[in-house]
Amino acid sequence: MPSLLLLHGPNLNILGTREPEIYGSLTLADINTRLIEAGRELGVEVRAYQSNSEGALIDALHDARGWASGVLFNPGGYTHTSVALRDAVSAIGLPVIEVHLSNVYAREEFRHTSLLSPVCKGKITGFGWRSYWLGLLALVKLLEE
Ligand code: DQA
Repeated sequence: MPSLLLLHGPNLNILGTREPEIYGSLTLADINTRLIEAGRELGVEVRAYQSNSEGALIDALHDARGWASGVLFNPGGYTHTSVALRDAVSAIGLPVIEVHLSNVYAREEFRHTSLLSPVCKGKITGFGWRSYWLGLLALVKLLEE
């Protein structure tokens, strides 16, 4: 059974109480549970990890080379700032799908720029927790081809 990394960046650990009008009322644990279950139905193992620190996210991406077939990644605010995370995504040679709960293009202009998008397979933004679910579906279909 293929394994996928579900990677969450900064401030996503406080989902549920963090600006629920933007990010919804599910907690990160709720989202992880739904994705692990959806993965099981699709025949893949989903392993979830969250960190608020850039270095730990880079380490998780490096580590994924050893066991994962692909990555679903919500880089949070680092999306718009991190050359180091972009380099890590580019370096690992795994398909990475960028995911956002909110529609970043309907928000402040600084959120319209992603340093990571050019090195990701694709990007899903604006569908709440279902952005992750759609990303999972896309990644599984990609791996099946
Ligand atoms: C986010 C969008 C980012 O702009 C923001 O900094 C986040 C969450 C999203 O999932 O909508 O932390 O990645």
